[in-house]
Amino acid sequence: MEAKKLINWNDSYSIGNEEIDNQHKEIISMINELYAAFTTGKANSIIDDILNRMIKYAGYHFKHEEDLFAKYDYAGLSEHKKIHDSFVAKVVQFQKDFADGNIGLSYEVILFLKKWLTEHINGEDKKYATYFSDQKVAYFNL
Ligand code: FEO
Repeated sequence: MEAKKLINWNDSYSIGNEEIDNQHKEIISMINELYAAFTTGKANSIIDDILNRMIKYAGYHFKHEEDLFAKYDYAGLSEHKKIHDSFVAKVVQFQKDFADGNIGLSYEVILFLKKWLTEHINGEDKKYATYFSDQKVAYFNL
């Protein structure tokens, strides 16, 4: 039986662009993977691998967004980039703390990831999506 998901994708998370929605779905699936590992007691053996993939993939996704901001002169670029950078720094710190044995995986960490991502999508990401859509940027009017 498939493990219960912590985050279920629904259309309220859509920012109106399939490529970016798919990138968000990929990060959501990594958080769900972490949650599944946590609930089955397997977290410690795979956490490093999941966090590595999450750091790499989030970096790829964030750069994709930031490149669009630069290309279409989005005024929120530097503020949004700061938020991205601080998320990556936080996950890198989690990874280091786990590796050093300072903390185990806790539900609080997983909830932090869920809360951060869903609030970021519904907040900062929707702001740029609305802006691009208002500006009739072709990428957002497929
Ligand atoms: Fe989709 Fe700003 O991260």
